[in-house]
Amino acid sequence: MRDSRETFPARAFVAGYPIKHSRSPIIHGYWLDQYGLPGSYEKVAVAPENFADFIAQLKHADSPYRGGNVTIPHKEAACSLADRIDPVAEELGAANTLWREDGLLHATNTDGVGFVANLDLQHPGWDKVGRAIVLGAGGASRAILQALRDRQIPEIHVVNRTVDRARELVQRFGAPLEAHGMEALDALLEGAGLFVNTTSLGMDGTAAPTLAFDRMRSDAVVTDIVYVPLKTPFLMQAERVGLDTVDGLGMLLHQAVPGFERWFGKKPEVAAELRRLVLEDIEAHK
Ligand code: ATR
Repeated sequence: MRDSRETFPARAFVAGYPIKHSRSPIIHGYWLDQYGLPGSYEKVAVAPENFADFIAQLKHADSPYRGGNVTIPHKEAACSLADRIDPVAEELGAANTLWREDGLLHATNTDGVGFVANLDLQHPGWDKVGRAIVLGAGGASRAILQALRDRQIPEIHVVNRTVDRARELVQRFGAPLEAHGMEALDALLEGAGLFVNTTSLGMDGTAAPTLAFDRMRSDAVVTDIVYVPLKTPFLMQAERVGLDTVDGLGMLLHQAVPGFERWFGKKPEVAAELRRLVLEDIEAHK
């Protein structure tokens, strides 16, 4: 049930610092338009020292907002300041979606759901991969590892430059995760069915190492959470050896779905036109 004193039309926000380049307003604005819903979604720059106050105001019955997204650097703080944290966000220790319900502020994390929903749509059957390899052990990696484990992928290898960070994630998420340093990568790719890059390697034209994607299964999928450029060096390498690829833009679009449904009451579709709009914005700000 919604908060009985909530405002109408519904307002939602994305709070971060910096927040200028967030593409979430394009996504939610498109859906509001598309469904003719009387609401708004706005960017709010909140410096770290003001975030606790921002959340306190959001909890107040007079807040203009039904909820919103939080992004860097507030995901951990959002998780500890909300009144109710769902098990997904609790285990991650990070939240990206907040909403008010029955006078309480609820928090979840939709990054993993977005990752999986995108693969389900772009590549049905991707979860019959057997062995999955996730490169990177930062915040984005966590949500993806959790989602892969929850989807019961039988073998999940976390590979990271700093192997101790990968080991921490193995401790956090348990079996079937295993931790490795970068030197193990090529051998692990042998017979693997899924490769996910969660590092910044290849972002904005930076270099990425050449990996032995030719050792993967012929029906393997290679995906990257980097979406600028859309076709990253890892995706290009995978295509060159004939593998299917899934780009990172879909995850960004799909992680927005549960929040929109909470605040505005309609489950939105991730349409090709929305993808085009976001791509145009990326092009315009190159
Ligand atoms: P995020 O929360 O966005 O995932 P992060 O916590 O900064 O960001 O993590 C970035 C990831 O990219 C890490 O796994 C990082 O490896 P380290 O843990 O060893 O720092 C990885 N990364 C960044 N630059 C890299 C590089 N040049 N080579 C290998 N890994 C790199």
